[in-house]
Amino acid sequence: MVIILVGGQWGDEGKGKVIDYLAAKADMVIRSQGGNNAGHTVITEHGEFKFQLMPSGILYPKCVCIIGNGVVVDPIVLLREISQLRERGIEPKNLIISERAHMVMSYHPLLDQLEEDTRGDDRLGTTWRGIGPAYADKVRRIGFRIGDLQKEAFMRKKLAFVVGQVKNPILTKLYEKEAIDLGSMATEYMGYAKQLDPYIKDTFPIIQDALDRKSNILLEGAQATMLDLDFGTYPYVTSSNPTAGGALTGSGIPPTKVDLTLGVFKAYTSRVGYGPFPSELLDEVGEQIRERGHEFGTVTGRPRRIGWFDSAVARYSARLNGVGCAALMRLDILDEQPLLKICTGYDFRGKRFDHPVANISHYKHSKPIYEEMAGWQTDIGAARKWEDLPQKCRDYIERIGELIGVPIELIGTGPRRDQFVTRGRKLFD
Ligand code: GDP
Ligand code: IMO
Ligand code: MG
Repeated sequence: MVIILVGGQWGDEGKGKVIDYLAAKADMVIRSQGGNNAGHTVITEHGEFKFQLMPSGILYPKCVCIIGNGVVVDPIVLLREISQLRERGIEPKNLIISERAHMVMSYHPLLDQLEEDTRGDDRLGTTWRGIGPAYADKVRRIGFRIGDLQKEAFMRKKLAFVVGQVKNPILTKLYEKEAIDLGSMATEYMGYAKQLDPYIKDTFPIIQDALDRKSNILLEGAQATMLDLDFGTYPYVTSSNPTAGGALTGSGIPPTKVDLTLGVFKAYTSRVGYGPFPSELLDEVGEQIRERGHEFGTVTGRPRRIGWFDSAVARYSARLNGVGCAALMRLDILDEQPLLKICTGYDFRGKRFDHPVANISHYKHSKPIYEEMAGWQTDIGAARKWEDLPQKCRDYIERIGELIGVPIELIGTGPRRDQFVTRGRKLFD
């Protein structure tokens, strides 16, 4: 069985926890896009793990974890993640990196930051991890693939061109920064090559064989639908396609092999970085949710912007990704709220829209249309079964399911592994 897991809002929905839940029964977990702009949290009896590049199934030794061709890999960050796991007694023997995955090179984070500075008031609020510049170079065909690390002469020749002819002139002439020393950069990357070598493979036969064996394969989405390069709030998006289509091109799995797309949503909305956010709460309710939910970015530590659940966004995601069932996370964060609002559409100049419109300035000035529901004002942290949830909480979940048009099968009632309410649907056998 093949399941694609996608984020349904603006990221940080709790994907890490759902992936960890599903990975217990998965034979393979594949990351297919994004890079270390992602931060996926998994909490087990051994404590908290925050994965940026490492697939979130890595804690299960029998689960093959693949960093797919669509990911951009910063070798420095990946090596750090590997050594952090080792320090905690976990040897990531089950990790495979696609030869085809591109690298975030040391100049990419620098260029990301410099480009952001140049944009001034129009900056995007990127994570400064070099993700946009790395994908741009991939498309320009001046990117470095992980497999290039295994070809020293090729790597040195290419560095001479890309760094010498393209990047150094930009750094020195445009930004008045120091030039990169080619020799030391080549030596540095040859060092990474040695350390990453055991993990680098052509993933085509590995994934195809797993499909032939009818293995349980989970495609781990990073970021989310509203950050999608094509369908998100462009230009306030990331530089990959976190939607279901991106999972396929980013791994090499054919669409005909996919059994289910699982959408992960949080019970309210959060967003890191700039860009339109119609249901944003700029009042004390937003502040309460941020504090109670510790809503600060996993990667950058920035306070996340908070808003009411937006079912227009969620329905858009569900339809765009062909979501078959959903997980609704962090419901417990709303435990204390007496009144909940759900944004069901927008008013733009007197006209109602039921989905995020493509025109960014229209979307920015769209006013949310809300419906209200009573909060449950009960601690739900101990709930494990549907019947354990207070009626008002169930009403909220059912209403969201109805509005977005998909059944909600998994419900997050706290950060821990066991804090889940499941509603009986078998996801992996
Ligand atoms: P991801 O990027 O979608 O994987 O999400 P993050 O890990 O960046 O952020 C989600 C945060 O919520 C993490 O700190 C998780 O440990 C936590 N979390 C996940 N599910 C739940 C839940 O149901 N309730 C609570 N309170 N926390 C949760
Ligand atoms: P996970 O997988 C939330 C946001 C950044 C910024 C925009 C572009 O943990 O849900 P980038 O560095 O990608 O060029 O930044 O995208 N962003 C995320 N926001 N969660 C993420 O990942 C994100 N990855 C990128 O904040 O607004
Ligand atoms: Mg995150």
